[in-house]
Amino acid sequence: MPSGPADRLAFPAGFLWGAATSAHQVEGGNTGNDWWRFEHRPGVIRGDRCSGDACRHLQLFDADFALAQADGHNAHRLSLEWSRLEPEPGRFDPGAVAHYHEVLGSLRRRGLEPIVTLHHFTNPLWIADAGGWEARATVDHFASFVRFCAREYGGEVDWWCTVNEPEVFAFRGWSEGLWPPAVRDNSRALAVIANQLEAHGRAYRVLHAEDRADADGDGAPARVGFAKHRVQLEPLRPWHPLDQLQAWFERRVFNEAVEQATAEGLIQLSLPGARPVRRVVQELVGALDWYGLNYYTRWMVRSLSPDPHVTRPGSERNDLGWEVWPEGFERAILAAARLGKPVLVTENGFADARDELRPGAIVRFVEAMHRAIASGARVLGYLHWSLLDNFEWADGYHGRFGLYAVDFDRPERPRTRRRSAEVLARIARANALTSEARAAAAGS
Ligand code: GAL
Repeated sequence: MPSGPADRLAFPAGFLWGAATSAHQVEGGNTGNDWWRFEHRPGVIRGDRCSGDACRHLQLFDADFALAQADGHNAHRLSLEWSRLEPEPGRFDPGAVAHYHEVLGSLRRRGLEPIVTLHHFTNPLWIADAGGWEARATVDHFASFVRFCAREYGGEVDWWCTVNEPEVFAFRGWSEGLWPPAVRDNSRALAVIANQLEAHGRAYRVLHAEDRADADGDGAPARVGFAKHRVQLEPLRPWHPLDQLQAWFERRVFNEAVEQATAEGLIQLSLPGARPVRRVVQELVGALDWYGLNYYTRWMVRSLSPDPHVTRPGSERNDLGWEVWPEGFERAILAAARLGKPVLVTENGFADARDELRPGAIVRFVEAMHRAIASGARVLGYLHWSLLDNFEWADGYHGRFGLYAVDFDRPERPRTRRRSAEVLARIARANALTSEARAAAAGS
């Protein structure tokens, strides 16, 4: 492909470029949460390997942020580990509290805007053992935790992400039974989504109320969103009425109902054979300053099958077998933007241990994002999943998503820069997709 100035795709001024992580996947040693306990059951994690020391990011965070800074990033998404901060109800651990001040200080010093997630799949054991997210009391506990974080860190954080992927969290843990608490019951999964959505609404109000009360007067208002996994769901056999119906139901419950909840305050969830949920939550009305979009792939829906989600036959796939489909990203951004809020891409990435597909895929996905912007979507930034290879939940250390490879067989967990890091660095530094970035992707 010829390259020159005409190939330059510029992004709006102030666009955020960076990477995303979550605490349990990178920190290591999160012994007090439900994932740690779950991982130690035989057979639940691919390769039977627990998170353990993960990337040792708990110790190495500053050096990791130095890599991001050197690569021209200006933002970074991370999560606060609830079980570390509040190991027992109402008791906050001073060491953990101080640790996250250091983390946020390091980000700020390095010019990386912190985008802070408050719930990224893990729960303190005391929450999990008291009914977890099926219990309405968890919503109250979470709201108290959020209040604590807002008061403690509000002076250092302007961008808050309340919950990560309520729908993925609920379906993996309570419908497919692949994540803790390993339940297989769609009725219970719907109850969990509803409680997570309610928790988002509560957190949104708490963060704004605390921000107004914020005495440090840093001037920047809190901007609160959530991260939504907007998977594209389509019938595998377009002519098959049951594939169509199932895809419709899944789109409705997985994507549209979650969006409707934040627009109208109405949580309305149903699936065939499951107990439906209908709940009005006033705090949810308009409770979104930005829409955090996590985009990875599309699933083709096959009805009456024990394996209802398959990859489109013949498609380009990553190491986890997920279709790599930039057009789906463009569609997801446009769909998210229809809610009328600006979109922040909170995750997009590719499991690709050899870094063969990722460099070119970054270019194609950034092009897709540019097309969506040209069609009118307001997009605030792009956070690549992930800065580092990390603990990929039930896939263990199999899915390698990092801009930097991590050697998990060595105790020091050394990082190695992948070509993809250079591609994103060139884009971030120029705030544009340039011929230099395309050349890096092509390996020249
Ligand atoms: C998301 C999740 C991340 C990460 C990523 C790659 O669903 O938020 O934690 O695991 O997928 O699979």
